[in-house]
Amino acid sequence: MSAASYSLEQYVADLREIAAETVDEDEILRRVGPLAQRFVADRSWLQPKHYEADTEQGFGVHLLHEEPDHSLAILVLSWLPGRGTPPHDHGTWAVVAGVEGVERNVRYNRVDDGSRDDYAELEVKHEFDAHEGELVCMRTGGIHKVTNETDNITLSVHTYGRHVNYTNRSQFDLDSNQRKSFIVRVE
Ligand SMILES: [Fe+2]
Repeated sequence: MSAASYSLEQYVADLREIAAETVDEDEILRRVGPLAQRFVADRSWLQPKHYEADTEQGFGVHLLHEEPDHSLAILVLSWLPGRGTPPHDHGTWAVVAGVEGVERNVRYNRVDDGSRDDYAELEVKHEFDAHEGELVCMRTGGIHKVTNETDNITLSVHTYGRHVNYTNRSQFDLDSNQRKSFIVRVE
């Protein structure tokens, strides 16, 4: 085993330790980020099936780990060329680490007063490209959109405080300002 190796089992053990020690999301993101980067650098967990993507959805979701109570979920996402997500939140903290390719991120601020459950107004906060080994960290409530603008499938590892299909999270329509729930199909 090389000094740089960092297995899924080690990553899960470290995530459990952090979750047991703090609920402060800034601290969680600060501590999980470097571990997520070690994990994507290791690549021993990577399998050919992780490149498979759902053509209807535009991306593939592959579960690497999830606690029995749906907390601490680690997912590999494979993004088809020219495809992506609508703007969405996660209902929990999120740490995304790039594995292959470049993923375009747009971050949004919500600017309405949040008084209507089915309505949200967003404005662009900033846009950036996330490259291999780079992190995108979001607290609960952080809103972004991900697009693969390259000609090849891109891969990233997403670590969440809770599996995003169990957080009642949202997707947002920028034209109609409609807010809806956002459930993804897991391969
Ligand atoms: Fe996301």
